[in-house]
Order: sequence, then C-alpha cells, then structure tokens
Amino acid sequence: MSAAKTNNAKLLKWVDEIATLCEPDRIHWCDGSQEEYDQICAQLVESGTLIKLNEEKRPGSFLCRSDPRDVARVEDRTFICSQDPENAGPTNNWCHPQEMKDKLLPLYRGSMRGRTMYVIPFSMGPLGSDIAQIGVQISDSPYVAVSMRIMTRMGDGALAALGHDGDFIPCLHSVGAPLEPGEQDVSWPCDPDNRYIVHFTEQRLIWSYGSGYGGNALLGKKCFALRIASAMAQKEGWLAEHMLILGLESPEGDKIYVAAAFPSACGKTNLAMIIPPAGYEGWKAWTVGDDIAWIKPGSDGRLYAINPEAGFFGVAPGTSMKSNPTAMESMSRNTIFTNAALTDDGDVWWEGMSDVPPAHLIDWQGNDWTPDCGRNAAHPNARFTTPIVQCPSVDPGWDDPKGVPISAFIFGGRLSKTFPLVFESFDWNHGVYLAATMGSEATAAADNQEAIRRDPMAMLPFCGYNMADYWNHWLSITDKIDHPPKIFRVNWFRKDGNGKFIWPGFGENMRVMQWILGRVQQSNNAVESPFGLMPDYQDLNWRGLHFEPALFRELMSIDRSEAQKEAEDQRSFFDRFGDRLPVELERQRQNLVARLDQAPPVWQLAGPDDRSENKARSSGR
Ligand code: OXD
Ligand code: MN
Repeated sequence: MSAAKTNNAKLLKWVDEIATLCEPDRIHWCDGSQEEYDQICAQLVESGTLIKLNEEKRPGSFLCRSDPRDVARVEDRTFICSQDPENAGPTNNWCHPQEMKDKLLPLYRGSMRGRTMYVIPFSMGPLGSDIAQIGVQISDSPYVAVSMRIMTRMGDGALAALGHDGDFIPCLHSVGAPLEPGEQDVSWPCDPDNRYIVHFTEQRLIWSYGSGYGGNALLGKKCFALRIASAMAQKEGWLAEHMLILGLESPEGDKIYVAAAFPSACGKTNLAMIIPPAGYEGWKAWTVGDDIAWIKPGSDGRLYAINPEAGFFGVAPGTSMKSNPTAMESMSRNTIFTNAALTDDGDVWWEGMSDVPPAHLIDWQGNDWTPDCGRNAAHPNARFTTPIVQCPSVDPGWDDPKGVPISAFIFGGRLSKTFPLVFESFDWNHGVYLAATMGSEATAAADNQEAIRRDPMAMLPFCGYNMADYWNHWLSITDKIDHPPKIFRVNWFRKDGNGKFIWPGFGENMRVMQWILGRVQQSNNAVESPFGLMPDYQDLNWRGLHFEPALFRELMSIDRSEAQKEAEDQRSFFDRFGDRLPVELERQRQNLVARLDQAPPVWQLAGPDDRSENKARSSGR
C-alpha cells in the first residue's frame, strides 16, 4: 500500500470502508505525476492491455482494445437513485437507493480481489476555482487511473485543494472481475452481464460496476460533471451543462465566448475546434472545452463558464485532417486510443481518417483486416483520450479559475427538414423552450419514418433529476443574473429535395457564428419569423463562399404544415411530464401555434422583389 498523503478524515474513512468491502490485494494513492503515469502505462503494456504505438509516428501513445461486449456507455443500465421516483422523472431509470445498495453490495464484496485499488483524487475545473469541485474515484482499473490523469486535474494538487476537512464526491468503480489466486488476468476485465452505473443524487455518491469503458468508468465525466453536478447545480443556483465552450475573436479584437449543446453525432467536437474558412483571415476561434460546461453567475451579473475537464475523450471515426485538423494535431502524441485499428507500422487508423484505407490493418478486435473484408476496422465508438493543452486552438483562458463570460447559448440538432440554419429566440423564456424541444432525427426501424428523438439541452441521458424541474431551473436562473446570454438554435443538417445537405457546414459555420457575435453586440439585423429571429441573406458575411440567395431562402424557409406537426409532437413530449411541466413552456408552444396560424403555407425571407414592402424587420430583440 502506498501511503495516504491526506489527513482528510472523510476520505480516509471511505477508502478504508471500500478496501474492507472490495478486498483488493494492494492500495495505490495516485499522485498524478508523469513517473506514475509512465509506470502504470508500462505495466499495462506488460499485461497486454495497452500496445505501445510507433514512437516516431505517435510519440508517447498507446492503443487499447476493450472487450467487444464493453464498448460504449450503457444508458439502459444507468440509474438515478433518489428517494422519490418523481425526482428522477420520466426520462431516467430509477431505483430506490436502499434497494440498489442491497443489490450492489454483494457484487462489490471481494470484487477487487487479486487487483490493485487505485485511489484517484481529482479536481473538476481549475484547481482553486470556486466553480470547481473535488472528486475521488476508487477504481480497480489501471486504464481508468491513467485516463483520469488525462481527463482531469488528478493527483496531489487535487488532494491539496481538498485539504484536511474539505468535501468531495466519492466515485466508486469496479470492473467486477476478481482474480482467484493463480488465475490469469484478461486484457480487458469487465462483467458485461452485471453493469450498473448508479447515481445517489441526494447522497451525492456514484457507484459504477461491471464496465471499464468511457463514461461508464471515467466517473468524473458524465456521472459527476453532468448527472451529480446537475442535481447539485439545481440546489445551489448554477448550471452543469453538456456543452462545448468556444471563444470567437474578430480581426478587430472583439472576443466573445459561446456555449453550445448538441446531441451525440452532430459535430460538437468539430465546432469546438472550428477553423475559420476562406474569407475569415484575421479571425480566431478558441477552444475552452468540447463536452461539458459548469456555469455560475458572477458578481458582475454575467454567467461564467469553466470546462471541468482537462482532456478530450473524442469519437475517432470520421475525424481526419479534412474534417478536424485541430483534433488530429491534438492527438498527434501522448494519447490513449481505444478500439481503433492498428497499422502495420504501429500507428492507428479508423474509418474516415483517409479516403483510401491502408491495405492491411489489425482491427479493433485484434484480427487481420483488409479493405474488402466487409467489417469495420475501428469500432464506430473508438475514442481518443488526449490532454486539452495539446490542442492548437486551446484558449489562453481555458484554465482560468474565474471562467470565461458567456454571451450566447447555442442549441443544435440533426434535422433534415423543418428547421432553418439558425434563429434567435425572442427572449430568455422562448430560448429555454427552444432548447427544451430540441432533438435529432432517429430512424424508427419499423416504418423507416424519421421521428425526432427529443434531447432537451442535449441532456436527456445526463440530467440527474426530473427534466421538468431542470427546465424550471433554467427559466428561473435569470433571477440571479443581470445580463442573460442570448439563445440560438442552429441546424447544419437540412437537406434539399434530392436528400443532399444544403449547407456546407464545418468551417463555414463560422458565418453563422459571426452573425451571432453581431447579434450579441447589437450590430446585426434580424428578421422576425414564426420560429424566431433570423438573418436575412445580406446579414451574413459571404466573403470566400459562393452561396445563392435563392438557396439561402430555401435553407431558411418554414413549411407551415411541417412546423404545425412539430408543435403537435412537442405537445406529446411535454405531456410525459404531467403537472411538473412548467406552464411557461406550454405557453411558449401555444405562442408558436398561434404564430403559425398567421403564417403563409411556406414562410420565406423576402426575395429581391418583395423585400421592401411586406417583411417586418427588427434589430432590437
Ligand atoms: C460523449 C457523449 O461521449 O455525449 O461525449 O456520448
Ligand atoms: Mn458528450
């Protein structure tokens, strides 16, 4: 046992209790040093869990292959254990805390036999920030210990910030694979038949069992920074959000920060690392975070955000020098790849990294792979775990304990129709409604119809309490601030009649960002539409991109009957929350219905011929 470097009584007592329960062979207190990281990685190479990559091509980096049954977050095994099921709400799996503990305690009993128990102190957020929080994860996975060093501020600094009487969130994790004396270990121990990702939100405690992968096992991320933190934030008057944080700077030196929420697979990492396109010489985009934002009212009446994490745990497939060179550069060294394919020269590859795949690879399951074999080389949820400081666009203020001031919230989904490229809410409450009703299309297997899977604020799997109460919290946060950020909806994914994307996306999204910046500075115009306030063609900067005004009108148009169907579908979603639904959200929905009643069958921005007379323009709201 390495000696505890703390005299924090709560921590010492908890470590003792868990050691007695889980019966590890050894206890290791993580100090977070480079030597410790190197030593655990070397041990993982020896045991066959990590493969050292070619030092010339990918210095300091490793490949890991998980058990093929343990490759992603398991939402159906994720539980919110509040005393009252109503406090978990209709969108979470619920179980009574005592019942869950009675179920899990026998599983944890002796679950670390034959293994080392790592005690991993970490800070979510800059050390010493009053927005940050301390957690301590106990885990029997050395892969988790080294990943936590990349993803959080881990080790002695966090212990020092905890102090002798500070509080922390206890995060218990076991892969659930005790070793009998003499038993040979496997490279990815787990217990796929008994997975539990459990949040005791009132006790502020996390128990995870049976999985070693990603958000199931790196408990600082989704479990703490979103599910537990969202419940804390509701009680304490702040926000814990599934949002990237991005800084935008004009050639004149104007700079704002925005926070943006998108469901999975909507290009969130690409926006967090956006590269200004041709025509944007002198503009800069800065990355503060790619996944989670903790946001608190500041003394000047504005909202301030920190990125609680210190690394990226990004989806690798689809990432390339074309789609996201910033991410590629970030992971050029000191990175742990999980479930990527291995090239013959000791580097990694995944679908989408290059147009032409290598002639031969070892796939994510360790088998020979050739382009004609009919299988994926990398798992679609293959990941890179890499320190944020390696990101070429990392914002100078990313580690500032004060956080960065947020001027706008952006909410997006993946929607092939109905929703225009961008619109701004009429006011805060309307913006909360736009965020609460966002979602992405999911193909319903039965009839191949595109149905919208609602994902309010992109928090559906991550809100640690009743979603309706969460909306109320968003509605009331303005009581605590004098300068609420503006709220926008975006949709990069609208398609034309031939099923082709209308908008080029990627770096060109900067044009939308510039309009948003102008709206924040009250220097850009907007047109009133049934959905909200929109840019007209001439309100966007088109330097460097040829995009026909008529195509822009198509991109921004609103088909009344589709919008009416959408409003109806929102109603059935709202109905699930019964009388916990804030009346304000239903009122906002009815306002939309009323505006649509007044709208033409196809609402469009004014064309060149009718611009002067019939379209109301507004710049103030
Ligand atoms: C993630 C997710 O992995 O949102 O960040 O699923
Ligand atoms: Mn995420």
